[in-house]
Amino acid sequence: MSEQVGFVTMGDAKGPSGDIPSIGVGVLGYAFMGKAHANAYKKLPYIFWPPAAIPRLVSVAGRSEQAVAVAAQRYGFERHTTNWRDLLADPEIQLFDNGGPNNLHAEPCIAAAEAGKHVLCEKPLGRTAAEAKHMWDAVKKAGVKHACAFNYRFVPAIRQARQLIEQGALGRIYHFRARYLQEWIMDPNFPMVWRLDKSTAGSGALGDLGAHIIDIARFLVGEPRAVNGLTTTFIKERPLDVGSGRKGTVDVDDAFVSLVEFENGAIGTLEASRFAAGRKNFNSFEINGAKGSISFNLERLNELEVYLNDAGPREARGFANVSVTESFHPFYANWWPQGHIIGWEHTFVHEINHLIEAIVHDTTIEPYGATFEDGYRCAVICDAIVQSSANGGARVPIRY
Ligand SMILES: NC(=O)c1ccc[n+]([C@@H]2O[C@H](COP(=O)([O-])OP(=O)(O)OC[C@H]3O[C@@H](n4cnc5c(N)ncnc54)[C@H](O)[C@@H]3O)[C@@H](O)[C@H]2O)c1
Repeated sequence: MSEQVGFVTMGDAKGPSGDIPSIGVGVLGYAFMGKAHANAYKKLPYIFWPPAAIPRLVSVAGRSEQAVAVAAQRYGFERHTTNWRDLLADPEIQLFDNGGPNNLHAEPCIAAAEAGKHVLCEKPLGRTAAEAKHMWDAVKKAGVKHACAFNYRFVPAIRQARQLIEQGALGRIYHFRARYLQEWIMDPNFPMVWRLDKSTAGSGALGDLGAHIIDIARFLVGEPRAVNGLTTTFIKERPLDVGSGRKGTVDVDDAFVSLVEFENGAIGTLEASRFAAGRKNFNSFEINGAKGSISFNLERLNELEVYLNDAGPREARGFANVSVTESFHPFYANWWPQGHIIGWEHTFVHEINHLIEAIVHDTTIEPYGATFEDGYRCAVICDAIVQSSANGGARVPIRY
């Protein structure tokens, strides 16, 4: 039989049509992440068939009665609440999904675990490593499944990069360099939002964007042994609101850079900024190994740049642009025929499907998904970068 290219499988609902269990979901937050997660729950059985369980959007929590009622109607939740504790008391909810701001991760996630709910929490898991550790301890003690929403692990090209590294295609890894660049707060009149307030967010570009590339570094290269860091805040005061003239103090970093030594001997650099003019969501990395290199940029999510030292005649060698959209690429057999690309929002479908499979079949989230332990380890590295910056960039060993 010729190679499966996906053009022939689209109407093929593999597997049974009979009894598929459902899993009740309660989501805290209905804005950016609440919307992305709700979309994923709804798409899941449409793409993965048969799913381990069909998500049932039971309830969504927000602060304003009117706004959360509209969100429930829009996203298809059966009910809504202005008290997130209602989600934990609801016997029809088995999975608690936390898409709230960072200061609202620990208490609801710990309470959810104590109530016996499986937990998915957005990143950064905690505002500090100590907070993240409490959360990890709580889910371990409760024996529930736990996932930290490092969704970039579920980009087909990034999972493919991991497989290439695992297969030894790049040989020994020498370098990892990652940049996660945005530009959205460059206007000095952009107001104080929760992401600029340390008590709410924990840190700035570091915990928001840096957390993602730290997780990618751990996912692809391995554990860091030590870091050096430099964090900075370019604009220290911002309007609290429109028109009043009142200002608030920005007490988180606008940008950071870090040097990384990995346990396997590789070295790397990490950089994130919200002041990179022209960069919208430029999450990119390059890895150089003894046998070749790979390079990725989220803004071209379906592509992986690959260079292999001995691929083809030397006159024709160079980075190849691989379209990671074949049925033999990670996740792709569930989607479309080759070259029919997918988007950022679909990483959440993969991530949540992985979690629900782990819940139903009692399989592990790790190593391909991120657990609360991964969220904790990432927070340790973030704290070390802050500590290094406070000490003039001194080398800080990573101790979990
Ligand atoms: N994985 C990713 O790519 C990614 C992207 C963006 C954000 N995030 C993370 O997701 C989390 C949420 O970020 P966001 O961008 O969706 O924020 P957001 O400000 O868009 O949404 C926050 C939501 O939390 C709700 N909320 C706030 N306080 C509440 C309370 N007391 N009770 C109930 N609901 C409350 C708000 O109403 C809002 O719906 C953050 O931890 C962030 O770091 C992850």
